[in-house]
Amino acid sequence: MSDVFYRKLHKQLPAIVKGEGVWLTDAAGKRYLDASGGAMVCNIGHGVAEIADAIAEQARKIAYVNGTQFTSEPVEELATMLAARAPWASYKSYFLSSGSEAVEAALKLARQYHVERGDLARKTIIARSPGYHGNTLLALSASAREHYRRVYAPWLLDVVMIDAPYPYRAGPLGEASPAMTGDALETAILSAGPGNVAAFIAEPIGGSSTGASVPPAGYYARVREICDRFGVLFIADEVLTGAGRTGKFFALEHFRTRDGKPVVPDIITLGKGLNGGYAALSAVMATSSVVETIAKSGGDFQHAQTYSHHPVAAAASIATLKYIERNGLIERAATMGARLQQRLRDATSSGDPAELVGDVRGIGMLAAVELVADAQTKRPFPRDMKVAETLVASALERGLVLWPNVGHADGHDGDLVMIAPAFTLTPSELDELCARLKDALAACASKLRNVVGRAKLGSI
Ligand SMILES: Cc1ncc(COP(=O)(O)O)c(C=O)c1O
Repeated sequence: MSDVFYRKLHKQLPAIVKGEGVWLTDAAGKRYLDASGGAMVCNIGHGVAEIADAIAEQARKIAYVNGTQFTSEPVEELATMLAARAPWASYKSYFLSSGSEAVEAALKLARQYHVERGDLARKTIIARSPGYHGNTLLALSASAREHYRRVYAPWLLDVVMIDAPYPYRAGPLGEASPAMTGDALETAILSAGPGNVAAFIAEPIGGSSTGASVPPAGYYARVREICDRFGVLFIADEVLTGAGRTGKFFALEHFRTRDGKPVVPDIITLGKGLNGGYAALSAVMATSSVVETIAKSGGDFQHAQTYSHHPVAAAASIATLKYIERNGLIERAATMGARLQQRLRDATSSGDPAELVGDVRGIGMLAAVELVADAQTKRPFPRDMKVAETLVASALERGLVLWPNVGHADGHDGDLVMIAPAFTLTPSELDELCARLKDALAACASKLRNVVGRAKLGSI
């Protein structure tokens, strides 16, 4: 009987009244272990009082000024903190509210950069499939997610898609395939005409798109080299992976050039964990050379949003980043994350869970469990069986929150669940998470067997 227009129109949503660490409590008193932090957002856990205090304090000082009229202390401080996190180049940050907005602005910035240089032909964007960059129309155009795109297809722009590095489904060539080496990017640039390409956008480590897939070690060195050779801007979309999720502040830090140097993106997008979910904030970090190119032309960045550079959202982010720093939470995401990955593999390798699970993968506190009908052939379940959704529902019944993703296997079929708890997860909470996951997988296998009337799911 709600007056709220929610995205899910056929679902009764429990009302959450309290959050503490990885635990959520609903209005009926049921407790949930939040193993995905919503959509991979809550990296410091729920209910951290000092973030709430920082928000209140800033709201009392000054809640809002427009970013074309004034600056504010928290916005300046946050930009300086982010620049210090990326010392390999000089970056300036543009703050917005959501990841989609950040991607939208980053792509527009890439186009404007080329226009200001007089390189008007550069308009092609190259992205990857599977890949996800958001739901506003330009971000959706760059996202290979068919079920989101279908209705709006007439409004979407043509974005060139190349195969994403996806080790589990890399095919017979494995690491030598063009998708895994990065050669696919060069082929796409050559076929689009090098002088036409504005930007390449990629999630450095797969989010829900390829389910926490980690590309081969040399992949981004090759991407950087190709982009440099053809004058293409490289946008690292760290909306999901940034702010420590993978055990480093930026996921791209896991990759190096051949001579051991950092891979330097021209533009970075951040969101989600940037403020742990305490206020809506995203960021576009652009190298000074990109920003100065626009400044030198005498123009301004052509992207206006009322809530850009919001002081309260910035204050929430500063408090979140300080909390992460003071509590060593990025190091913890690495060490506890290694334990999480191992325990997830153990929990799903035998019994009923093994009947559904094709692969468990990830890095740091970002993990995915890919569900397949046949683990030998990696054959996905038919989409209409809604396996990921069934598992998520079984988990929720058992007080475990998981995040589903579908369609990654071939654009239509494919089921996986993401596990991305707060970096503060304790060993006993990890035990509980694995026990509930095992239980949910067994319940899901049994529900599916009932539906298809088969003793073995592999025979579907
Ligand atoms: C890599 C990536 N980019 C962009 C977005 C869009 O962010 P938002 O949902 O905050 O608009 C997401 C959201 O899941 C994402 O994972």
